[in-house]
Amino acid sequence: AEDGYDLWLRYQTLPESYAKDVNRTIKNLVPGDINDPTRALAIEELQTGFSKMLGKPLPIKSNAGKASLMLLTSEALAQISNDVDTAKLTELGDEGYLLTQAKINNKPVTLIAANSEQGLLYGAFELLQQMQLQTSLKELNHSSSPKIQRRVLNHWDNLDGSVERGYAGSSIWDWWELPGVINPRYKDYARANAALGINGTVLNNVNSKAISLDHRYIEKAAALAEVFRPYGIKVYLSARFNAPMELDGFENADPQNPKVRQWWKDKAKEIYQIIPNFGGFLVKANSEGQPGPGDYGRSHAEGANMLAEALEPYGGIVMWRAFVYSEHDAEDRGKQAYNEFKPLDGKFKDNVLLQVKNGPIDFQPREPYHPLFGAMPNTPLMMEFQITKEYLGFATHIAYLAPLYQEVLAADTFAKGKGSTVAKVIDGSLDGHKLTGIAGVANIGHHRNWSGSIFNQANWYAFGRLAWDPYADSQTIGRDWLALTFTNEEQFTEPTLGMMMRSREAVVDYMTPLGLAHLMATGHHYGPGPWVSDLGRPEWNPAYYHKADKNGIGFDRTKTGSNALAQYSKEVAQSFADPKTMDERYLLWFHHLPWDFKLQSGKTLWQGLVEHYDHGVEEAKAMQQTWQSLKPYVDQERFTDTAQRLQIQVDEAQWWRDASLAYFSHVSGKAIPQGTTPPK
Ligand code: GCU
Repeated sequence: AEDGYDLWLRYQTLPESYAKDVNRTIKNLVPGDINDPTRALAIEELQTGFSKMLGKPLPIKSNAGKASLMLLTSEALAQISNDVDTAKLTELGDEGYLLTQAKINNKPVTLIAANSEQGLLYGAFELLQQMQLQTSLKELNHSSSPKIQRRVLNHWDNLDGSVERGYAGSSIWDWWELPGVINPRYKDYARANAALGINGTVLNNVNSKAISLDHRYIEKAAALAEVFRPYGIKVYLSARFNAPMELDGFENADPQNPKVRQWWKDKAKEIYQIIPNFGGFLVKANSEGQPGPGDYGRSHAEGANMLAEALEPYGGIVMWRAFVYSEHDAEDRGKQAYNEFKPLDGKFKDNVLLQVKNGPIDFQPREPYHPLFGAMPNTPLMMEFQITKEYLGFATHIAYLAPLYQEVLAADTFAKGKGSTVAKVIDGSLDGHKLTGIAGVANIGHHRNWSGSIFNQANWYAFGRLAWDPYADSQTIGRDWLALTFTNEEQFTEPTLGMMMRSREAVVDYMTPLGLAHLMATGHHYGPGPWVSDLGRPEWNPAYYHKADKNGIGFDRTKTGSNALAQYSKEVAQSFADPKTMDERYLLWFHHLPWDFKLQSGKTLWQGLVEHYDHGVEEAKAMQQTWQSLKPYVDQERFTDTAQRLQIQVDEAQWWRDASLAYFSHVSGKAIPQGTTPPK
């Protein structure tokens, strides 16, 4: 059955003509020293792939023969051939690889070359991917290396098996049975991630329990780390800042308390004794009720540095989150993180990354990029994207997120003049940082298909690809994913790609058009709730964000309002300053405007709003129609599952539109124009 379990590693039988090509080019395999565990996995994966795609594993040879597939480290390569440009290889660093046709001992071979076993594993996965995409092997001459160092999934998984904002069933980690039971799924998880180049995973929720740092839980994490290590994936843990109090009865967790500092050093030592390649800690401190250094009047830098100091002897890092806002702060929530962290620029130890969400509020369908990007040149900033779709319809709606990720990565901060994109901030090239990182809040659960829906798998895949190369293109990624997941046939991939590429904008249109944000119902964030205005924490009320009344709508973040605009560089601030000329996708994020404000189309704001909502509904319907037309190309199981979800999406797009417009019509006194989709 096509249940989606295999993700992008399906290795379907290749069509005859292409299989012939492969058989001519690769006849046997020279594995090299398979005592190396990583290389052993590369060989195992290649044999799995060849067996499934071509019907049989490759015969093994000890030396290059005609049409061998060889895996060689640059060192080994230099000894047996000078046909390959090893200088080029050196540039590929620790994790890069080269795939090429070469001559070894005068024999034509297909070569995977890298500076490390890890690079060879990535090269093997890439070869298998290219074969699934039916790329001509003769033309293969492809080198690649990651532009970002730490490419990390963040699991918001709790120790009781629940997943915060998880829509694919409960956690894949069975904390009860670990470390004794190693579910084979852990290995498949590692394979799927290694195939994308993801090299780190934070196992537990940012809202973490101190007990995850207890010895018994470290042993459980160690068992997972053991499975992941040869795949090049490091384990990290979310650390609760007051763990010394909760685990060992300390009176405080003050970073200036020498006993507390020592506790963290001892804890780090204990962890590294059983997880020698432990990655480090992820910390949510003084945010949404979590403990932190602020409880003792200390700064985020002091808190982060204490943990960094403990991890430093072992090469560990701290990923300190900038997702900080307080109900006691009357300031615009969207400004608070910048206010808090900007003055700390340069105050963090070298092994600290500041992990910043893509936008200043919280993973909305659309937000402008976070103003901290470009504002802290002396601190390496790590990107935090959300893969799980907390605010974009969970696992039921289709929303391909690569265009969202790309929009943020490509945004120009102008921090060092034109071209200072967010991608350049986080890949370290703008400010010369060596330690770099990107995180994605995982959408993985124990659902058979991992992500709750087939199309949600695309977001995990796209995150991995963009983490490797933040300049990659969301269309290419989408097309590759479709070919790997369904079929290569263009009659299928082109219309489906079109549908994916428009899907996120459709969600923006029917949920939060024209720069609106956070209008979702309280708590679960599913479905519309723009009318909610009575929650204890004002900044959790949708009304706080849209500020709609009979005179107008939108959040004034210009000089006359919160002046959040001033947190951006002059150029960016200017580009958003004038509602008459700016990019209207961000209009109501930055401006409070009268309902009769004239949009660039000449229509009034109210008319424009109605049109966007209507358009969102039309787009959902169009996706549904497209999918119906693709039935001949898709197996029954995945066709039906997707079709059912699209029916929900169409119904709920309508729900969003009707409910939102009914509410806005009520507060504005404006009638919903005739001829637009009537409420059901
Ligand atoms: C959002 C989300 C929370 C999560 C928080 C975070 O607010 O709704 O569930 O804990 O982000 O990123 O820390």
